Amino acid sequence: MKLELERLSKHFKNKIAVEEVNTVLTEGIYGFLGANGAGKTTLIQMICGIITPTAGEVKLDGKNTAGMGEDYRDLLGYLPQEFGYTPGFTAKDFLLYIASIKGLEPKFAKRRTKELLQLVNLGDEADAKIRTFSGGMKRRLGIAQALLNDPKLLILDEPTAGLDPKERVYFRNLISGMSRDKIIIISTHIVSDIEYISDRILVMKKGRFILDGPAEELVREVDGMVWECRVPQKEWPGFEQERCIANAHNREHMVEARVVSPKRPYEGAETVEPTLEDLYLECFWDEL
Ligand SMILES: Nc1ncnc2c1ncn2[C@@H]1O[C@H](COP(=O)(O)OP(=O)(O)OP(=O)(O)O)[C@@H](O)[C@H]1O
Ligand SMILES: [Mg+2]
Repeated sequence: MKLELERLSKHFKNKIAVEEVNTVLTEGIYGFLGANGAGKTTLIQMICGIITPTAGEVKLDGKNTAGMGEDYRDLLGYLPQEFGYTPGFTAKDFLLYIASIKGLEPKFAKRRTKELLQLVNLGDEADAKIRTFSGGMKRRLGIAQALLNDPKLLILDEPTAGLDPKERVYFRNLISGMSRDKIIIISTHIVSDIEYISDRILVMKKGRFILDGPAEELVREVDGMVWECRVPQKEWPGFEQERCIANAHNREHMVEARVVSPKRPYEGAETVEPTLEDLYLECFWDEL
């Protein structure tokens, strides 16, 4: 399976949300990483066929998906960033309802609903009303509904928003345990959600992909640029203002800082092993 984005653009009245995005995705897990407003949701909505591109195409195995209609939707599982739940429904009824909209056979839908509620750890809450659910439980139910039709193309827009650390770990394991016959796209601005489970990370900024590669490869971009140093507290405000600070820890009279910088940021600074988060900060600190 091959999903191609070809010169995909979306312009709103006076706003360029996505500009000339090109890439080819085959079976695997992809992280779309970008700050607020980078264009992730707009891009995803074009891939899912919810909004029409201003220019460009989304192709599946060489066919423009815009003309595939039902055939494309049958392959697609989608968790929108903003998902409307029906608070009076139980988790089970909600999934059965979505299954009927998707046109799944009732017997299959029933079995699948049960399986999926177990999978997302809501087995014991199957008959509880959604209005009693925490944010994390609702998000997990959203992931379950995206999986109802066993999609070959699974697209999750900020699936971990509102999840606590334990639930994030559970989510990561869930995704990495999925069968490898899918294209899975996960959008987020949280590096750790995708760092270890993505085959490729596509960093999106101002509507474009600015970096694309496996995490290990992207991290090399900031090799030799991540420093640890100790800065006297009285110099700190001036120092901080001009630099990309990855971390700062106040000690007596001194601030211990982790800094991303092409040059040695302070006397005595030493380079340390970079992480993907350092790269992310380097990409976006001008927007912070
Ligand atoms: N319907 C719209 N009309 C006008 N501008 C829009 C519309 N939808 C999105 N935008 C703008 O396009 C840009 C990209 O927005 P988008 O929601 O795709 O970003 P995002 O990466 O998903 O951000 P977030 O992480 O906050 O969800 C933003 O500047 C946004 O204000
Ligand atoms: Mg978004």
